[in-house]
Amino acid sequence: MISKRHFLKGAGAAALAAGILPLSACKARVDARTHPIILNAAPAEAPLLGELEAGTDVWAYNGTVPGPTLRVKRGRELAVRLENGLEQGTSIHWHGIRIDNAMDGVVGMTQEAVAPGAGFDYRFTAPDAGTFWYHSHNRSWEQVARGLYGVLIVEEEEPPAVDREITLVLDDWRLDEGGAIHADSFGSLRDWAHQGRIGNWVTVNGKPPGDIPIRAGERVRLRLLNAATARIFALAVEGHDAHLAALDGFAVDPAVPEQSVLLGPGQRADFVLDATGAPGKHYALLDDAYTDAKPISFLAYSDEAPLREQFDSVPRLGETRPPPAPDLADAQAVDMVMEGGAMGGLAQARLGGEMKGMRDLARAGRVWAVNGVAGDLDTPLLSVERGRSVRVAMVNDSAWPHAMHLHGHHFTVLSIDGAPAPGAGRVWRDTHLMMPRERAEIAFVADNPGKWFFHCHMLGHQAGGMRTWVEVT
Ligand code: C2O
Ligand code: CU
Repeated sequence: MISKRHFLKGAGAAALAAGILPLSACKARVDARTHPIILNAAPAEAPLLGELEAGTDVWAYNGTVPGPTLRVKRGRELAVRLENGLEQGTSIHWHGIRIDNAMDGVVGMTQEAVAPGAGFDYRFTAPDAGTFWYHSHNRSWEQVARGLYGVLIVEEEEPPAVDREITLVLDDWRLDEGGAIHADSFGSLRDWAHQGRIGNWVTVNGKPPGDIPIRAGERVRLRLLNAATARIFALAVEGHDAHLAALDGFAVDPAVPEQSVLLGPGQRADFVLDATGAPGKHYALLDDAYTDAKPISFLAYSDEAPLREQFDSVPRLGETRPPPAPDLADAQAVDMVMEGGAMGGLAQARLGGEMKGMRDLARAGRVWAVNGVAGDLDTPLLSVERGRSVRVAMVNDSAWPHAMHLHGHHFTVLSIDGAPAPGAGRVWRDTHLMMPRERAEIAFVADNPGKWFFHCHMLGHQAGGMRTWVEVT
């Protein structure tokens, strides 16, 4: 963790103003027997600068950023109708859900873009309880950056014993001096070849960071999501012992006391947080990914007397069953070399079936390559028979971090830079944040048939070629 922080700080991103404001998100309880939830993707205004300022023009689901928080019980069907009120094609991807391939929402792989004015019906069963999210998967480097995302909570049949849940969705916007989304820099190859579209304005639940009301003695489940398209967050709650209870939706069992968590784009973490602070006090949620610790919200204690003085042992979120354990002895193995970007030394890569030099690649907007292929999707990284175990030896041969996301499956990280990864075989993720020059080996059982996108969730990197796919036959 330390070395990761170090790198990020060295990268020296712009310092962020710490503003103030709270959270709210409309909730939609979903039941298979009711009509589908409608998600209308369309231009809207959002109070990114705060309720007292003029709204910012965004693209949003049902007019809010984040979009409505969808909740469904594990094993129950979710039915959502996407309506496209944008002037470009769109789709919805259900990030982290081990979903039926046809519902995965990947334009160009599992469906066509939904045309302006048209709609699409998503219908699937969520097999795992946990914190997930949904977002556009067409021109996502622009559509997600403009606000097209929301939280999807799959509830446990028997929710863990906490008093309350707090969901914090972090985002990072690039705003111009007037507070509008900086549109001219969408698609900037310079961004894509570096860290991606790093912004200058952080929001929590679509607003400037602010107070999160809490009462002393409460036990809270904190759900954190990094919805930014490039920024990494390293989060810690001042003055509290928090227990890390889930990563990317899957329980970390037993929950472990953890002072901080590093969240790459797309990643989630659930904490059980006991409000052991004093009534009337404020405690910061700190981010120190790139700079010295800066508050990005405050736990604002009410003056009420503590709800309880003593806490029981930390509850398990244990209802999510871990994916099947991969059989490492009989696994299909593949190497995955990620190259390119600024200071990467990529000399050439395959594009449109031909080897091209860096200049031609850049002209085509492709500055990243996986196994020597600059974003072409004609052949998969590997094709594997359903049920077979897979090991992927990943090498980040570049000067930048990458948040590598596999669709349709959760994997376990076996090793990092040759050393056994903490949580190997026990922690399951859908996105692994790889540091520059890192080598990591991941494994999973390819038990979900279909074509599964595998890409960097720094979405400019993805558009710039950091992408491939896995075929499960
Ligand atoms: Cu969250 Cu392919 O994306
Ligand atoms: Cu990347």
